[in-house]
Amino acid sequence: MSKYAHLRLEYKKEKLSEESVEINPLTQFDIWFQEAMNAEVPEPNAFALATSGPLGIPSARIVLLKGVDRDGFVFYTNYNSDKAKDIAYNSHVSMCFLWHELERQVRITGRAAKVSRDESEIYFHSRPRESQIGAWVSPQSDVIASRDVLDQKLAEVTALYENTDIIPLPDHWGGYRVIPEEIEFWQGRPNRLHDRITYKNIDGHWKIKRLAP
Ligand SMILES: Cc1cc2nc3c(=O)[nH]c(=O)nc-3n(C[C@H](O)[C@H](O)[C@H](O)COP(=O)(O)O)c2cc1C
Repeated sequence: MSKYAHLRLEYKKEKLSEESVEINPLTQFDIWFQEAMNAEVPEPNAFALATSGPLGIPSARIVLLKGVDRDGFVFYTNYNSDKAKDIAYNSHVSMCFLWHELERQVRITGRAAKVSRDESEIYFHSRPRESQIGAWVSPQSDVIASRDVLDQKLAEVTALYENTDIIPLPDHWGGYRVIPEEIEFWQGRPNRLHDRITYKNIDGHWKIKRLAP
């Protein structure tokens, strides 16, 4: 037997039904997000983002949700990174949140598009100064020879902006908004018979369906 086969939790905290959910999945997301914060889920805004490029090979990594509005879900990254190259080729992405403390998962599929430079500017300047400098320092996803490369670049960029109050937003850094096409809310239930409610956007209207677990 595999050394992990005995790992098993029974999920029994909550239920989810077609009748109890909101008509709009973004409102439902907000309610669950608030509940995740109340339950003190660590970094409830962390989610797995899956992309795929020309080879069709999926690639997933954790990023942080920095905004949600009626248009979609916003995260920030390096526009030269591997994920950005994937998105430039194929804007379809998948997002997955795990809020373990509540036995909940939310999955979103949709299309990612860059946010306006103004929107990126506002968020960029709200970050700690060191994080703004970090965006200039790291050629995200590139192979680098050693840690020293980063430390040296950090010293250079810090010196460059020493007497500057406002660090400029790098051209290679900014946000994406994922415009959702499908959003699934998953609530763990006993005996692996979980509740799954999915919303699909059909011609601008959200259709709600229950899926088998
Ligand atoms: C908790 C956590 C939060 C992260 N948040 C971000 C983020 O908001 N933006 C980002 O670009 N990378 C973030 N990362 C790093 C990414 O997982 C990833 O290493 C990086 O973006 C490079 O991915 P890529 O080479 O596939 O483009 C985070 C990692 C972790 C573990």
